[in-house]
Amino acid sequence: MKPFRIALTKGRLEEDTVALFEKIGFDCTPLRQKGRKLILFLPDANLEVVLAKAADVITYVEHGVCDLGVVGKDTILEHGGSFFEVADLGFGKCRFALAVKKGTDFYSGYGEKTIATKYPNVAGKFFSDKGMDIRIIKIEGSVELAPLLALSDGIVDIVETGTTLKENGLEVVEEVTPISARLIVNTASMKMKQKELESLIEKIQQAKGE
Ligand code: PRP
Repeated sequence: MKPFRIALTKGRLEEDTVALFEKIGFDCTPLRQKGRKLILFLPDANLEVVLAKAADVITYVEHGVCDLGVVGKDTILEHGGSFFEVADLGFGKCRFALAVKKGTDFYSGYGEKTIATKYPNVAGKFFSDKGMDIRIIKIEGSVELAPLLALSDGIVDIVETGTTLKENGLEVVEEVTPISARLIVNTASMKMKQKELESLIEKIQQAKGE
């Protein structure tokens, strides 16, 4: 049988996925010794592993060049796309939250508020669900800087331990949504290779529950 191809989000989710694969019993030596290689074959699992940036994991799965992908719910919510989300892998847990400079009241006053974020779609939906008009400024990283520099009234960003907020004098006002790593599957692969895919998904589900 042709190997399945799975795209993994490089970095922390990659490490957690490798640990999960090892729990299933797959020999992950090629991944542990990958160097700068981006495509690794796991012979005993008959899996070809592609290492990619989060948003690209979705692109490769959507276009069908990868059957499966491991990506954070944050990227799924921001990027959208057409694929099946088949499992919550239970790692990569964090949350989207609205945060402001400590002691400020985000909801006070009538003027239009400004939000800085790396996730304009997530932030936009959060406030439109509340019926609030918000000005959104897209920031590429270290979003915590924006309210400190008075560019914005608040941020919508990922909070994991809360350390970054705390060390920069910010605090959570409201949780937007919880986040964790998800297993996604290309829609055509799911139809064409259903049995084999389901067996792999079941192995992953079992290992994650152990
Ligand atoms: C993420 C996020 C926060 C931080 C939260 O940033 O945007 O800044 O982690 O983690 P904490 O609650 O455990 O402190 P990342 O490290 O991905 O860097 P970036 O902001 O430059 O994207």
